[in-house]
Amino acid sequence: MRKQILQILIDHQGNYISGEEISSYLQVSRTAIWKHIQSLKEEGYEIISSTGKGYSLKGRPDLLTPLEIKTGLKTKIMGQKLFCYTSVGSTNEIAKKKALAGEPEGSIVVAEEQVEGKGRLARWWDSPTSGLWVSLILRPQIDPYQAPHLTFVSAVAVCQALRRFTGLKVMIKWPNDLLYQGKKLCGILTELGAELAVVNYIIIGIGINVNQQVKDWPPEIRAKATSLAAASGKNWRRVDLLQVLLEEYEQVYQLYLMQGFPTILSLWREMNVTLGAEVVVTSREETYAGFAEDIDDYGCLLVRRETGELESLIAEDVSLQKTYNHED
Ligand code: BTN
Repeated sequence: MRKQILQILIDHQGNYISGEEISSYLQVSRTAIWKHIQSLKEEGYEIISSTGKGYSLKGRPDLLTPLEIKTGLKTKIMGQKLFCYTSVGSTNEIAKKKALAGEPEGSIVVAEEQVEGKGRLARWWDSPTSGLWVSLILRPQIDPYQAPHLTFVSAVAVCQALRRFTGLKVMIKWPNDLLYQGKKLCGILTELGAELAVVNYIIIGIGINVNQQVKDWPPEIRAKATSLAAASGKNWRRVDLLQVLLEEYEQVYQLYLMQGFPTILSLWREMNVTLGAEVVVTSREETYAGFAEDIDDYGCLLVRRETGELESLIAEDVSLQKTYNHED
């Protein structure tokens, strides 16, 4: 009911709508409408009531609540079931438990902040309340060796979402960092739950720096990372970004399920800054320079060493030699 009332207020934003009209749309009493409006106000919605005119919505909180995320969400699967938290250790850890408990594909776990956010290669991921921290549960019917494909699906979906939402020319660095003018805006952590021959679930953890003030970061982070606010000079509503992200994800994921990895890889190629670049690879054993030649059918990066040998990389750390400026 609250979701329907909110949707009506959003549809009439900028104008007033009377309690009588809302009650006749929804076939409930005006007193019931009034009670729901009071509870929306308590949640942070700015709703003006004026005698004779009715209600008018002036402002919505940028809170990651089920009501905000679901109102106006145009997906069939992604985010249709959601688990929202104020503060958690890591949304990926919660999503894993939910997946093991049988929650369906498309369920998401989202939190205002993470106190033990996890990055790739066992790194720590800074996750204050100004960012977007979300994990998706997927259950694709693929073989475990194909799971890295989902890393590419995710990078393409998030890149498309960030471009559509902000208009910024965001690029992908292999395997799935999202960069703006060479600095990291977003990281993706893919975790697999599988038996030898069967994928049980895949968790896609997406961390986007949205409204962080870069001046608050230490200089060494400032040199490598950025946020949407820093890149664009304005703050963004995380709820709106999440909705765009879920819509793009659903579309790119369906494309993968119907057309396979080659289609996704060709989209990825259009958006990536790694192929054709001089890179420095850091593996557990060594650090070496090379040239990023191509991606194979499994999503491995093929790097030609200066000595001529071709290396196939699965998850190593790859940094670009030059700073690229891809802004138009
Ligand atoms: C990286 O190292 O680039 C990956 C960072 C992934 C961070 C996200 S935030 C949501 C999800 N929960 C986590 O603990 N990590 C991922």
